[in-house]
Amino acid sequence: MSHEVRGVVSLAKGEPVTMQTIIVPDPGPGEALVAVKACGVCHTDLHYREGGINDDFPFLLGHEAAGTVETVGDGVGDIAPGDLVVLNWRAVCGNCRACRRGRPWYCFNSHNAAQKMTLADGSVLSPALGIGAFAEKTLVHAGQCTKVDPMVRPEVAGLLGCGVMAGLGAALNTGNVSRGDTVAVIGCGGVGSAAVVGAKLAGAARIVAVDIDDRKLATAAALGATDTVNSRTADAVEAIRALTGGFGADVVIDAVGRPETYEQAFYARDLAGTVVLVGVPTPAMRIDLPLLDVFGRGGALKSSWYGDCLPTRDFPMLIDLHLQGRLPLEAFVSETIALDEVEAAFAAMAGGDVLRSVVVL
Ligand SMILES: NC(=O)c1ccc[n+]([C@@H]2O[C@H](COP(=O)([O-])OP(=O)(O)OC[C@H]3O[C@@H](n4cnc5c(N)ncnc54)[C@H](O)[C@@H]3O)[C@@H](O)[C@H]2O)c1
Ligand SMILES: [Zn+2]
Ligand SMILES: [Zn+2]
Repeated sequence: MSHEVRGVVSLAKGEPVTMQTIIVPDPGPGEALVAVKACGVCHTDLHYREGGINDDFPFLLGHEAAGTVETVGDGVGDIAPGDLVVLNWRAVCGNCRACRRGRPWYCFNSHNAAQKMTLADGSVLSPALGIGAFAEKTLVHAGQCTKVDPMVRPEVAGLLGCGVMAGLGAALNTGNVSRGDTVAVIGCGGVGSAAVVGAKLAGAARIVAVDIDDRKLATAAALGATDTVNSRTADAVEAIRALTGGFGADVVIDAVGRPETYEQAFYARDLAGTVVLVGVPTPAMRIDLPLLDVFGRGGALKSSWYGDCLPTRDFPMLIDLHLQGRLPLEAFVSETIALDEVEAAFAAMAGGDVLRSVVVL
């Protein structure tokens, strides 16, 4: 059997997204059918629509979601119908070299549903990040579902499915921010603001938020940034150095992912400090740094894919912290919208009006 639902599809590069009828198969072995309750609009969805990820149109967009398990296929034991789950794009395989070495957050064989969702005419859809959750129902691998405390609101829980987890993890996991560290975050959208929150949670002594939009800086300050720098009017590197005793920050997180922000991150850190690149560059971007500076300044230049998270380890823990009042995830939900308002939400995101627009179903 299959299900006919409504979903948000990107049919062709650069074209506005449209509502389409989606055919969702019943779950096969190892799969789960999830009734989507909430799905955030992430910059990566816009990257897909612009052809910046790959050319496998049509895409069923949406990948930052929470929902209720409707049915499961054979062999699924960890989740059951009725469970509130956060969807993830890192269902680790347990068998690849990374998993076997005990570094499953680098798993390069993570699971997705084997069956395909299609349009009514049979064309196969590419679900964004193997999820496709701007739809009333979606089909995923059961390992993409992490059960969390049902007390949490779905529009808040779903945020952990991508951007907020990426930002929190960039600080907590990849950057390994520790008590007393100085931290700078360049770009304070949904991802960067979450990095600010992660740095605060880890006990950073000073958190410098950098953005070109004063509204984002105000939000970052409300979330725990101790200082803000508008890099349109001030030199980000000089400002971060001035705020950190002339040294630079221990950890600088680039949550934009452009050559100029990466270069700022590279020079704004203290000697032997850490750069974490979590913003996603486009294929055309290049950096040009004196190799002697790469050597001489030492430290670590790291990338953070999905905040180096492990959904099974991190999602329930972060939801618990949220329910205890220690993690203000609700602050990231700027607006809740309907499924047919995703295109407008892209405009709001591009205009810098929101941290997250979240589709609620
Ligand atoms: N690594 C991962 O796993 C992962 C996961 C999710 C998203 N991302 C990526 O993270 C990036 C940020 O995503 P988002 O959802 O927060 O986007 P967003 O559009 O909400 O935020 C981007 C922010 O950067 C600011 N900005 C833009 N240019 C700047 C500049 N030159 N200097 C300083 N600030 C600048 C904007 O004003 C905005 O506040 C995107 O590239 C996205 O694709 C990465
Ligand atoms: Zn693996
Ligand atoms: Zn995303």
